[in-house]
Amino acid sequence: MAVTVRALHEDDYSRWRPLWDGYTQFYDCELDESVTAFTWERALNPGSPMFCRVAEMDGHVIGFALCILHEGTWSTAPICYLEDLFVDASVRGIGAGKALINALMAEGKREGWSKLYWVTRQNNPARKLYDQFGEADDYVRYRLSL
Ligand SMILES: CC(C)(COP(=O)(O)OP(=O)(O)OC[C@H]1O[C@@H](n2cnc3c(N)ncnc32)[C@H](O)[C@@H]1OP(=O)(O)O)[C@@H](O)C(=O)NCCC(=O)NCCS
Repeated sequence: MAVTVRALHEDDYSRWRPLWDGYTQFYDCELDESVTAFTWERALNPGSPMFCRVAEMDGHVIGFALCILHEGTWSTAPICYLEDLFVDASVRGIGAGKALINALMAEGKREGWSKLYWVTRQNNPARKLYDQFGEADDYVRYRLSL
């Protein structure tokens, strides 16, 4: 069965939510309910720079990509940050993750974004997938909690 990618809809909540919970558990993170509610709201709000694409197979949502479109000082065109990517553990390895990234690349080319990028842990096995798209750079991240 082929994997297709589409924009998130309001009626996807019952399927998106367990995937989102699976994703936060993957990162051992307990998010306050208000944060999840706000993320969901922004992902659906066309006025927000946050958006979500879902992978669907056989009529079921099996994965998602949550992104933020932002400006950049070195480009006049928008830049897309892929912040969260997740596929249901029971259907991994059949191409949903790849389909989500491919769909973002196609959308970005259509819409005139200058870049698509994401950050992952050094040892994330998903890098096997990411390495199919290009090489990781040698930048490191500094994060200050405020
Ligand atoms: C990363 C993730 C979204 C990939 O989704 P997926 O649907 O399983 O990926 P695909 O089926 O499109 O994978 C395509 C290829 O990458 C490989 N791959 C993808 N994820 C992999 C993983 N976690 N470990 C080993 N190989 C992986 C697949 O074996 C496949 O290889 P092939 O093209 O040689 O057959 C999924 O593994 C996931 O949700 N992981 C947990 C959360 C996570 O790590 N998110 C990313 C945070 S940056």
